[in-house]
Amino acid sequence: MRNDEFIVMPIAQTKDETKTSRTFFFDYNLNSKPGQFVMLWLPGVGEKPISVSGEKEGRFSVTVCAVGPVSKAICELKKGDKLGFRGPFGTHYSIPKDVESIAVVGGGYGSAPLAYLCEHAIAQGKKAYFIEGARDSAHLLFAKRMEDAGAEVLLATDDGSEGVKGFPTDLLKDALKAHKIDRVFSCGPEIMMKKVAEISAHFNVSSEVSMERYMKCGIGVCGQCAVDELGICLCKEGPVISGKTALSLKEFGNYFRDSSGKKIEYNSRRV
Ligand code: FES
Repeated sequence: MRNDEFIVMPIAQTKDETKTSRTFFFDYNLNSKPGQFVMLWLPGVGEKPISVSGEKEGRFSVTVCAVGPVSKAICELKKGDKLGFRGPFGTHYSIPKDVESIAVVGGGYGSAPLAYLCEHAIAQGKKAYFIEGARDSAHLLFAKRMEDAGAEVLLATDDGSEGVKGFPTDLLKDALKAHKIDRVFSCGPEIMMKKVAEISAHFNVSSEVSMERYMKCGIGVCGQCAVDELGICLCKEGPVISGKTALSLKEFGNYFRDSSGKKIEYNSRRV
């Protein structure tokens, strides 16, 4: 069920995940699915699309990383402060019934919807490999939560302070060689997700990625989040799309558009 009206509620609980990211819990039955997002609204400051990072037993959560003015202001909020949200919006990750094992590959706060997805998969009796990369151990999200959930956790850091020194895409390659993995899911830096989609295709495994774009309406009306060259609006036909569709998009892993529609190239960041 979706909700286009903002609901303003007190924050039921908060949890600091890293120095710059915090999870906010709301006692509300959102009926979300892993991969969907809500538009969070802080009155007088602005609104921002944020993936749902978990939901069970009438409580859902979002995990916010303090990177811009809106997210920084949200991260200052505490238990009992009020925050608005509307949603859930967008497409979600899909796990067909015959899938027995999945691998998720996350980078940065992209791990939030993937942690939710792993818990969902494990609850359905599937095997889950949670692969995550970050610049150092202090920036890893949800490793303990995933271990507790029963996922096999594989970590990579740029400086080797936790897990292997290297990239999550290398861990994915090794996992696909060593194990029977039926489907791969990814969220995080787009250059990383492009590699994930390419590696999965090489191993003949279907993949899904979550593409993030600047959003205004969040309901497929304004065209702000349309991507070249298919013209699909990612707030409605995304954010989760198949790796195959993503690889057919001219801008996937190459550039995005800012709030004025100007093209911004991605740096060739290591993945
Ligand atoms: S944000 Fe308006 S169409 Fe997607």
